[in-house]
Amino acid sequence: MISIIGSGRVGTSIAFLCVSNALDDVLLLNRTKDKAIGESLDIANAIPSTSKFSIHGTDDYSKLSGSDVVVIAASTGIYQKDRTENIHSQVKMIKEIAKKIKCYCPSAIILLISNPLDVLTYFFQRETTLPRFKIIGVASSLDTSRFRYLISKKFNIPQSLISNALVLGEHGDSMTPIFSGVSVDKNPLLSMVGDDEIFSLTRSVRNYWKKLRDYKSRSQFGIAKNTYDVLDAIVHSKELSIPASVVLEGEYGEHDVAMGVPVKINQHGIFEIQKIKLNQFETDMLQNSSKKIRGYITSQI
Ligand code: 2OP
Repeated sequence: MISIIGSGRVGTSIAFLCVSNALDDVLLLNRTKDKAIGESLDIANAIPSTSKFSIHGTDDYSKLSGSDVVVIAASTGIYQKDRTENIHSQVKMIKEIAKKIKCYCPSAIILLISNPLDVLTYFFQRETTLPRFKIIGVASSLDTSRFRYLISKKFNIPQSLISNALVLGEHGDSMTPIFSGVSVDKNPLLSMVGDDEIFSLTRSVRNYWKKLRDYKSRSQFGIAKNTYDVLDAIVHSKELSIPASVVLEGEYGEHDVAMGVPVKINQHGIFEIQKIKLNQFETDMLQNSSKKIRGYITSQI
């Protein structure tokens, strides 16, 4: 069973993808019971006739027991300019959710979506002391989708011709797009762009969500699909290579922080953190990013 805590736009979009693709049974959990029930009644009509799975809504945390995967998409409020705006209430919320998960489904794999993503991934692991490789912050894959999309727009080519686009570090203003490995129609991206274009693409990927919000207030489908891909890999025992946030113990020279790094995922959660080559500029940028996340963490301890 896949349980989704938070039935706002993102939680329900993930539920819709899981149900309509007959991935598994889904439990929608929301602090407002009627909202969870209403959304599940709606999404239930998307169950394919061939599916053996169903969906239910609840506000009762004890129903989490038996979950194989829990997605945390809950939020204590809306933020406008920065994902850390509600950091204090979000950290408090994640600690409360962590206690419930430890009580009702301690062996589930956890996917975090709520912001500030890296900070919450860190505090969830710290609060539960569950194995770090079972706690996955899903966001750098979304940033990577955006990076790939922006490159494809810039060169007016399909995304299928772009390889190894990757964004690491904070899911926030210090995220680090890795240009050095990208190829565009088999040519190294760095041979095609100068410093100004690197700067401008970096700024565009960092500000993508703000631009999107100017038009439609909040993002929804991109994160839903990226999360669905992780759920699909877990449920169907497929190997998936994406960047995701995980608590680091020495990888990329970092300890006691969570941030986006390249990982491999299968039915057990993360099974490997991949070591990739970065140039000096990227290494410095990634270090700044971890410093920034650590600052937020320290402010909440
Ligand atoms: C996003 O990047 C706001 O974290 C959310 O779309």
